[in-house]
Amino acid sequence: MGMLEGKVAFITGGASGIGAGTARRFAQEGAHVILADTQTKEGEAVQNEIEQGGGQALYVNCDVRDAQSVQQAITETIEKFGRLDIVVANAGINGVWTPIDELQPEEWDKTLNINLRGTYLTIHYAVPHLKKAGGGSIIITSSVNGNRTFSSPGASAYSTSKAGQVAFMKMIALELGRDHIRCNAVCPGAIHTNIEERTENRDTEKLGIEVELPEGSPALNEGQGEPIDVADTCLFLASDLGRHVSGVEIYVDGGASLLR
Ligand SMILES: NC(=O)c1ccc[n+]([C@@H]2O[C@H](COP(=O)([O-])OP(=O)(O)OC[C@H]3O[C@@H](n4cnc5c(N)ncnc54)[C@H](O)[C@@H]3O)[C@@H](O)[C@H]2O)c1
Repeated sequence: MGMLEGKVAFITGGASGIGAGTARRFAQEGAHVILADTQTKEGEAVQNEIEQGGGQALYVNCDVRDAQSVQQAITETIEKFGRLDIVVANAGINGVWTPIDELQPEEWDKTLNINLRGTYLTIHYAVPHLKKAGGGSIIITSSVNGNRTFSSPGASAYSTSKAGQVAFMKMIALELGRDHIRCNAVCPGAIHTNIEERTENRDTEKLGIEVELPEGSPALNEGQGEPIDVADTCLFLASDLGRHVSGVEIYVDGGASLLR
């Protein structure tokens, strides 16, 4: 029997990278997974792949910035699978990395709206259903950035959103303890996904902050990870193995952020 048999998991950003990897892993363990994303083609492909492997999945088009869109996605989840047990608030962007005097207000807003408002909206609409289920597990994908490292030049909006997610997670963990809802964060380091391709770096060389170690990083695999590495950590937090763990951030970076 799978570790998540009979559980329903709502995963934002489930069409790509860490979200898709987590969806595949959860489905292998018997969970029914919802892939909430804006990339329909990619999301449907992940759904098909999980179904062909004998699992159950549903792609729903959902922009996490938009309250109505998130509410609708949660409604579709309940209509399809009847309950909700696990939430992975994972959708996120790097956005624009640039010196602070060049970072435009709309660029700041976009990063904060997707990464932080999106996390709030996802959890806001999911919590009544977790309470109805008698408890559950919330996992937020934060980052080493903004929590243990501050060395990515120009990433002020991104790092702020990622630090905000961890503070929010700790507030919620305490608030929802009596409802048997656990809330934790995973903080990945460098994970091989498409996120870099969608990052806009503008004039960051002007900042002169780049850190390069002369002999490379001594961390596990030089700190380079795959989505499955984060997915397995999420599985621990989502399953009964993590039953007494709430309010913590777990760094999934091979130890790399200890150094920089
Ligand atoms: N890859 C890394 O090195 C790394 C490191 C630390 C943290 N993270 C975090 O991991 C999370 C997942 O990133 P990833 O690396 O898998 O990137 P990714 O780009 O492969 O996947 C992110 C997914 O989020 C979706 N998304 C973006 N905006 C959205 C919106 N408004 N509404 C709904 N979905 C939206 C994208 O369509 C995409 O499918 C992010 O929160 C990111 O900050 C990634």
